Amino acid sequence: MKMITCIAPINMAVIKYWGKRDEELILPINDSISASLSTDVMCAKTTIVTSALLKENKFWLNGQEQSFDSPRLTNCLRAIKKRADEKLPHLHWNISICSENNFPTAAGLASSAAGYACLVYALAQLYNIEGEISNIARQGSGSACRSIYGGWVRWHKGNSPVGEDSLAKQIVPADHWPEMRLLVLVVNDTKKKYSSAKGMAITTLTSSLIKYRANEIVPRRIEAMEQAILNKNFQSFAELTMKDSNSMHACCLDSFPPIAYMNEVSHSIIQLVHLYNDYKKELTVAYTVDAGPNTCIYLLESEVEDFLSIVNFVFPNNVDDNEYYRGLKLPSIRPLDES
Ligand code: DP6
Repeated sequence: MKMITCIAPINMAVIKYWGKRDEELILPINDSISASLSTDVMCAKTTIVTSALLKENKFWLNGQEQSFDSPRLTNCLRAIKKRADEKLPHLHWNISICSENNFPTAAGLASSAAGYACLVYALAQLYNIEGEISNIARQGSGSACRSIYGGWVRWHKGNSPVGEDSLAKQIVPADHWPEMRLLVLVVNDTKKKYSSAKGMAITTLTSSLIKYRANEIVPRRIEAMEQAILNKNFQSFAELTMKDSNSMHACCLDSFPPIAYMNEVSHSIIQLVHLYNDYKKELTVAYTVDAGPNTCIYLLESEVEDFLSIVNFVFPNNVDDNEYYRGLKLPSIRPLDES
């Protein structure tokens, strides 16, 4: 028997991936950039067991058994096994996968990114695969390729029709900008109506704005964002982050039928961020929203206390602060134990 357990971080995009040019291979229409978060607060944990005695393949997510036949899982497994040494005896045994997220699944908090990054990394460990695996994680969920690396990560869309060059590369490790924090304001932790996959498929098919975004806006913005991160220029970083989130959601609304991921609370938080920045006379906090209403705030450590006290004042709640606002440091994926 062999067993491996890994944990992987969620990542939060500052230049968003929205739209595929190939649905099956999960090839995006634009590059994207994100930060992988510290695994001490929000992460996926996956254990894989393989044994000659296992009669069939099994997969559990958060304690519930899932079908093993999902195309995304099958594609990842096939791609990993193709890279393994045929002579490895346990390559031909069945496997049992048990995966857990310590945060709401499918509520726009990048659960599939952490989940598939963790799964692919664990499989690579199990079958002794070395080298590039982000283009395999991508086949589980696009954004998962970025969670393979720690720190600031860019997913290069690539040009190949088969996707071998559509992969993630680290821009800088997390300790490059150690003061950076992310607050995840959980507005609603129920499952979203349109998954990211469905939402971006509708947008790609029906929005005319998305073409302009992918071909004109993002290519310029991605270079500027890389510079902002390299130079630790928070003003530029914040402006690009907020504008890119707005642009993605504008494309969602430009879809037919329109897709609205944000709700009134998300919009109120956005207003609050703008008011707060106006009051501070510079950009000190930046919002970004994925495919759901939960609103994330990038800010520097020195700003956390002030901003949180305003948020607590404007949105009083009876839930323990730690449940609502999670201050995250950045960092990466690591194997927990191997036996
Ligand atoms: C809004 O990676 O979940 O979070 O590739 O279909 O699995 P699939 O989509 P997914 O989409 C993430 C979209 C996003 C933006 C981002 O993370 O870049």
